[in-house]
Amino acid sequence: MFGIVEHPKIQGTGESRFGTVNSHASKIAGSGTCLVRKGRRRAVRLFEQSRSAWRLRTRRRRLGTRGRRIADAAVALMIRAMSRPILLLAGSAEAREIAARLGRDARWEPTISYADRPRVARHDAGRVRLGGFGGAEGFLSYLRRTGTKVVVDATHPFAARIAGRTARLCEEAGVDRLKVVRPGWTEDPGDDWTRVPDAAAAGATLAPGETVFVASGRDPVSALRGRGAHLICRRIEPPSEGFPGPDGEWLRGTPPFSVGDEIELFRGRGVRRLVVKDAGGAASRTKLDAARELGIPVTMIDRPRMPPGGTVATVDAAMAWLEAQWSDA
Ligand SMILES: NC(=O)c1ccc[n+]([C@@H]2O[C@H](COP(=O)([O-])OP(=O)(O)OC[C@H]3O[C@@H](n4cnc5c(N)ncnc54)[C@H](OP(=O)(O)O)[C@@H]3O)[C@@H](O)[C@H]2O)c1
Repeated sequence: MFGIVEHPKIQGTGESRFGTVNSHASKIAGSGTCLVRKGRRRAVRLFEQSRSAWRLRTRRRRLGTRGRRIADAAVALMIRAMSRPILLLAGSAEAREIAARLGRDARWEPTISYADRPRVARHDAGRVRLGGFGGAEGFLSYLRRTGTKVVVDATHPFAARIAGRTARLCEEAGVDRLKVVRPGWTEDPGDDWTRVPDAAAAGATLAPGETVFVASGRDPVSALRGRGAHLICRRIEPPSEGFPGPDGEWLRGTPPFSVGDEIELFRGRGVRRLVVKDAGGAASRTKLDAARELGIPVTMIDRPRMPPGGTVATVDAAMAWLEAQWSDA
């Protein structure tokens, strides 16, 4: 849609027409600069109006080298004039995919925000920022400073504080916001799950002496300790200070894990229960499938409540929402 390098007036087919072609291309460059000056909104309008007339791609090859360069520069200028800053709050697989897709779309100027350095190496196309914003004030000031008008919150389904705050502050600041959150897991026949509202309630499901596999990050560990169970807590990068007591251990592991991997691990370590956060997603469901195969019961910690409104479940739906934002600009 934005591969514009052809103008209706450029009809030349041979070397003899290149002078004309180049002068048209110069005009294109001029109008591109002018569009930048007149502001993005006007540029969008003008561009949309003239879009059908600017089908330059097929005739681009008829331009001389200089003509192509000028026309390409004009196109780049116009796209830059129209591109919109967008803040992507990352921390999930969906965020990774959205970042990749935004990186291929010149209409957006994405900034990808991580609370922390990503644990798995990323090659995000776009600006990357690391660390919190410094509370609500910091977030509002970030939005103002950068002129961000669109925020996509694709943080983890358990990152409730940032989700609630983003929804509230975006509304206050008149910024369009979308929450992307994948559906939670549902029980299949043969699964033996106990749903609990939080980590404290998960602790109450553990029996003394049993080996428990904890696949729920660092947060719930303190609530699970002191119950006489042995905890095996898997993390991509275990904390350097070691497990905080004699009743457990960190286990290093980098996903993905197949059902076979999980079965081997649970069998090998004599696991008798799983404690899992209802993170959802096919990739990490394998541990639940392995538990079903082995008849191991699962304590499933329910998700925290997310802010109402403006929520989609898939990356495709998020991209469709962005497309609509773009058209409405
Ligand atoms: N909770 C989980 O189970 C889990 C699992 C996997 C990944 N994560 C990811 O880890 C991050 C922290 O999770 P959490 O549960 O601690 O979040 P949280 O409780 O909702 O947020 C805590 C604070 O972390 C900062 N923050 C969170 N996400 C951020 C982002 N994408 N960019 C910049 N700052 C961010 C904010 O700090 P300021 O107030 O300073 O702005 C926020 O107030 C999230 O991005 C989440 O997606 C969480």
